[in-house]
Amino acid sequence: MSQNQDSFSVRHVWKSIMSVQNKENPVALVETELARLIVEQKLATSDEVEQCLTLMARRGVSDPQAVAQTFVDMGVATPGQIQRLHRTLQARQGQQIPGYQILGRLGAGAMATVYKARQLSLDRIVAIKILNRKLSENREYVERFQKEGRAAAKLNHANIVQAIDVGEANGYHYFVMEYVEGRTLYDDIAAGAVYTEGKALDVIIQIARALEHAHAQGFIHRDVKPKNIMITADGTAKLADMGLARSMGDAETAQAEAGRAFGTPYYISPEQIRGDIDIDFRTDIYSLGATLYNLVTGKVPFEAPTPAAVMHRHLADPLVPPDHLNTRLSAGIGEVVEVMMAKDRTHRYASTKDLLLDLQFIAAGQPPLQARKRVNAELLADLAAGEDRPELTAEKTQRVEMPDTQLRRWIIVLAVALGLSVVGNLIQALAASW
Ligand SMILES: Nc1ncnc2c1ncn2[C@@H]1O[C@H](COP(=O)(O)OP(=O)(O)OP(=O)(O)O)[C@@H](O)[C@H]1O
Ligand SMILES: [Mg+2]
Repeated sequence: MSQNQDSFSVRHVWKSIMSVQNKENPVALVETELARLIVEQKLATSDEVEQCLTLMARRGVSDPQAVAQTFVDMGVATPGQIQRLHRTLQARQGQQIPGYQILGRLGAGAMATVYKARQLSLDRIVAIKILNRKLSENREYVERFQKEGRAAAKLNHANIVQAIDVGEANGYHYFVMEYVEGRTLYDDIAAGAVYTEGKALDVIIQIARALEHAHAQGFIHRDVKPKNIMITADGTAKLADMGLARSMGDAETAQAEAGRAFGTPYYISPEQIRGDIDIDFRTDIYSLGATLYNLVTGKVPFEAPTPAAVMHRHLADPLVPPDHLNTRLSAGIGEVVEVMMAKDRTHRYASTKDLLLDLQFIAAGQPPLQARKRVNAELLADLAAGEDRPELTAEKTQRVEMPDTQLRRWIIVLAVALGLSVVGNLIQALAASW
């Protein structure tokens, strides 16, 4: 086929696509673009593709998967080819954002694909998150996405991935942000890394500072997790996706994302699981606690075979303190994580500032005073509430007494050792006197 014939074919197919669309054919635009690409890449002739499109129009095929399947069934392309074409299409969608030159794909999550791009006006590198087609078509979601994205652009902090802009081009909604050269915490965890207490605290303190700043301005992240924490080459930690509206309820999103390794249910707070509507900054403290737990133990706080079971454990199961799993950890970090991950948010830190103070105390080798104050205050309150809630008092007493119990165990071990050594000495002395 000559160059002229080739471009004629493409035009021809494109025209037929548009005419099919004008008849309100429900085939999604991205799939008709797929048809165009098939011809462009000479996998089939324009006539063959046109036949397919006509058939689809007649059958009312609208589901993108069914469209792709029809192309496969009609022998126009193999499933592997269709997949490759989809990737090309995704890249092209990115290239269609005016003012930006797409340089490459950085990654993809449940809701979007992230590209590295050059912002032409300022000649700087940025990252652009382009929403999946389905979300881009959800008007209610898009409104929230635009509103929250614009608000987030006003936040400015060294530990928050800077939001730059939100917009829409060719039916795709996008979010422009600071490009972070580095890796995510998830990359390290997935590679089997277990952080030392000092290294983990360094990262978590930076993210707590980011949260303190955001919380003070009324922002709640709602999705703090290792995948949303990026680390640059110089060790700066940055919280990503601040101000990115979520498409569904938190528990639903968590379910939808499950199945991907290290899905969200591992870090979600009990109140988000319950679908409470008055979510506040304490949900981020819980998720940050779960992230810290994961970093220093190499394990998620609650593991189970299904996302629903993981969520159930967040709601009902007591937490195994991280310092019990990894005995190199200080008791202080154990106490802090326990307060961060209290199931009842009124038992968590009363402010992100208090949390930050404790993280700094333990990083300096001092006891976590805020956590202890918190536990003691609760205990007093529970005692004052008296017999009304005996079960609560019992639970607290158990938590506070944990170090005492350990101490008692050590005293018994020492006493037994001492006793044995005294008996040994006596026997030796007796043997010598004989
Ligand atoms: N600002 C950024 N700079 C550089 N790379 C980024 C940036 N934001 C995201 N990425 C990369 O793109 C990937 C996808 O990000 P995205 O937020 O879409 O999904 P995720 O957070 O990994 O997962 P989830 O589906 O749970 O949201 C990230 O894992 C990261 O590697
Ligand atoms: Mg993300």
